[in-house]
Amino acid sequence: MSMRHSVASRPIEASRAAFAEDVAFYLTESPRQLPSRYLYDDLGSSLFEAICRLPWYRVAKIEQALLRAHAASIFGRLPAISTVVELGPGSGEKLLTLMAAAPRPDVTVHLVDVSPAALDQAAIGLATLPSLTLVAHESTYLEGLRAALGRPGAAGGGALVVFLGSNIGNFDPPAVDDFLQGVRDALGAGGALLLGTDLVKPEADLLLAYDDPLGVTAAFNLNLLVRVNRELGGDFDVRQFEHRAIWNARESRVEMHLVSRRPQRVQVKEPGIDITFDAGELIWTESSYKYRAEDLAPLLARAGFRLAGQWLEAGFALTLARAV
Ligand code: AVI
Repeated sequence: MSMRHSVASRPIEASRAAFAEDVAFYLTESPRQLPSRYLYDDLGSSLFEAICRLPWYRVAKIEQALLRAHAASIFGRLPAISTVVELGPGSGEKLLTLMAAAPRPDVTVHLVDVSPAALDQAAIGLATLPSLTLVAHESTYLEGLRAALGRPGAAGGGALVVFLGSNIGNFDPPAVDDFLQGVRDALGAGGALLLGTDLVKPEADLLLAYDDPLGVTAAFNLNLLVRVNRELGGDFDVRQFEHRAIWNARESRVEMHLVSRRPQRVQVKEPGIDITFDAGELIWTESSYKYRAEDLAPLLARAGFRLAGQWLEAGFALTLARAV
């Protein structure tokens, strides 16, 4: 396997300034918020990996099983694929399962992630497929995708974008449409998208997945405050906040919040904010939208995709679409 890196990363100072700006903005909004993308520092990424191993969080396990069972059939519908781009590859395990069934051994695989550590980990995972050419893009999804595919439509029917793990669930509805449209435009007609999506299921199952008995998801959520303290000079007393997961049926999303256990004051040095929390006041840290299988074709059609296959199991959907 040959490995190339591309797209320069943002200097640490610039990304800390953006973090400080976001914390100042979102934490003083009503309701108070912290963007979920900041959950993934080194410890947060490890905690997320641990979540994926929990018996109550089944997204990763079911998706793996679907990929194992249907990878050959997916490639059977995409005979000309020569370029695969995975957005947010995680450990690389899912792509490894998929690529093991690729009909051509000489595919170029592009990995796109903002985290260099995630890219390295995925590259190690894919090293068992030696004939692949691997290109890593340390970048946001759409920027990296455009860098991988070049001029819109240039890859035509030879490109497959892979977006798994129900990462799409962390986008709000208007952002989902913009994102899918961006993928469609970068691919051009004939390009393909493989999308993994968690589906609506009984509330009790959803709450167990997002508020597990071992407290791993709670640690994942609370680590956001640890990160604010470490990187921005915050003085959150982490023990004075608790994790809460809520199923918002009307919006079809699981919400993660941090709840202030008592009235308290918090200062964060770098953006220079000073906040007073009431007892029970919330910080909203993540939305995880759950879809119905039948909603996915219209969602994709709005962005210019036509359904090319769908595989369902235990409340999870793997959907293949072609750009028209
Ligand atoms: C990464 N993402 C799809 C996960 C999700 O299910 O929304 C993040 C997560 N949050 C809590 N548990 C897992």
